[in-house]
Amino acid sequence: MISDRLVDEINEQIKHEFYSAYMYLAMSADCADRNLTGFAHWMKLQAEEEVGHAMRFVDFLLERGARVELQALDQPPARFGSPLEIMEKSLEHERFVTGRINELYALAMDENDYPAQVLLQWFVTEQVEEEASIDEIVERMKMFGQDGSALLMLDTQLGERPAESAE
Ligand SMILES: [Fe+2]
Ligand SMILES: [Fe+2]
Repeated sequence: MISDRLVDEINEQIKHEFYSAYMYLAMSADCADRNLTGFAHWMKLQAEEEVGHAMRFVDFLLERGARVELQALDQPPARFGSPLEIMEKSLEHERFVTGRINELYALAMDENDYPAQVLLQWFVTEQVEEEASIDEIVERMKMFGQDGSALLMLDTQLGERPAESAE
């Protein structure tokens, strides 16, 4: 039996994953507005991935016979600042989510909930990848500073990101 506390925490995590999707979609729109079409594409794929994360938790609760209680989402900002600030804000957000995932994993350990641990292991790995890929972009952007042609090159590169194949 999955504990009530773990069910509550996973329901809350579903909200954070959907909020992540909402935030990345808002960032995508902000980037599109600045004609950073590659950034916009990259952010839109991030948003889709986050919906996939939320669905993993939803399916898990349903498979465990637990209740799914969707919570209200906060309104994300419409403007996020400079392109570097947008990437810095997404890194900051991913770090927050990593903290949440780690707390969930600790709880699943505490409660000897092995299926939840297996699910969360996937998320632990995913968060390492998320933080690494965004950190790399942030560091490159800091390296080229105000160089517009370097920004456009990065934009082209981000625009080539392929959609994740469904697992
Ligand atoms: Fe996520
Ligand atoms: Fe994420």
